[in-house]
Amino acid sequence: MAQDHAQPSGPDLVRGIALAELADGGKLVGHFGGEEVLLLRRGTEIFAVGAHCTHYHGPLVDGLAVDETIRCPWHHACFDLRTGEALRAPALRPVACWSVEQRDGKIFVRGKQAQPKPKAVGKPSGETPKRIVIVGGGAAGFAAAEGLRRGQYEGSIVMLSNDDAAPVDRPNLSKDYLAGKAPEDWVPLRPDSFYSKNRIDLRLNANVTGIDASSREVALADGSKLPYDRLLLATGAEPVRLPIPGADQTHVFTLRSLADSRAIIERAETSRRAVVLGAGFIGLEVAASLRARDIEVHVVAPDTRPMERILGPEMGDFL
Ligand SMILES: Cc1cc2nc3c(=O)[nH]c(=O)nc-3n(C[C@H](O)[C@H](O)[C@H](O)COP(=O)(O)OP(=O)(O)OC[C@H]3O[C@@H](n4cnc5c(N)ncnc54)[C@H](O)[C@@H]3O)c2cc1C
Ligand code: FES
Repeated sequence: MAQDHAQPSGPDLVRGIALAELADGGKLVGHFGGEEVLLLRRGTEIFAVGAHCTHYHGPLVDGLAVDETIRCPWHHACFDLRTGEALRAPALRPVACWSVEQRDGKIFVRGKQAQPKPKAVGKPSGETPKRIVIVGGGAAGFAAAEGLRRGQYEGSIVMLSNDDAAPVDRPNLSKDYLAGKAPEDWVPLRPDSFYSKNRIDLRLNANVTGIDASSREVALADGSKLPYDRLLLATGAEPVRLPIPGADQTHVFTLRSLADSRAIIERAETSRRAVVLGAGFIGLEVAASLRARDIEVHVVAPDTRPMERILGPEMGDFL
């Protein structure tokens, strides 16, 4: 995701602002040392956190503040105002936090705070499981594994994915990456080293074919079995494939994985015209990305207007 590097907006928070400029419940963006900082007032307490969501840079000033949290207005990631911790996906990294001083009716932002260690996962009433197996290497499986380690779970984590790529930022596959505006190294959710460093045993091309709940084992396509104490199924969804003649041709694609997006890009390099079947979010994003590659695009869908089923006729007409 491209980030703008324009001059930070709002007042210089090192010089401070009058307390009266920030009403109770209010938010204000200023800057500290070149970084944009969001100030929030909750009663007598004032929080200072990074002004942008760590997912896709959403403006937290437009988000909803609930108790000591702020939610991003774009895809509803949630951050702890006291620690900056990302409490809810899709954001995975914390926002920065600054110390705030109130003096002589003014608010000053001081240095950046060290990121506190996240709280350990609360001990369940029973025994802590020794082996957790996650089936699925998408955002949900990844967030579960990352969250377990972040919460200081010490047992074994095995993540099984029948994809050949480590967890990726799937939404990017129809947007900047497909349009040629984002390099491929933006696509993985984390570098490969993350998994070994965090003792997450990520097994790719590992297709789970069965679960034996009584013996607590999953069966894999290669005939092997893997025992678990707790099993998380995070197998996501699949594109609808049309059962029509021609759908199996080599120049017909579906879009779900990094490999799919790569294949479309490769084909786009020698194509002049594309037909996109489906006028929902992904279909229209693909159409826009291919237009950015100067390809003539036709969108075909049974609806009378684009996105009508999701957004209604007025928005469909607008689009
Ligand atoms: C092109 C595209 C663009 C999108 N854009 C947006 C967007 O802009 N905003 C938004 O909110 N959402 C978007 N989405 C939807 C979003 O990506 C999904 O909601 C999200 O990926 C769901 O995550 P998940 O982990 O539940 O499932 P998935 O990402 O589908 O992951 C499932 C995982 O399970 C694995 N798996 C499945 N079956 C097995 C098996 N039997 N054995 C082993 N592994 C298995 C798969 O290989 C995969 O790794 C987009 C989706 C696509 C495809
Ligand atoms: S930009 Fe904040 S949740 Fe996506």
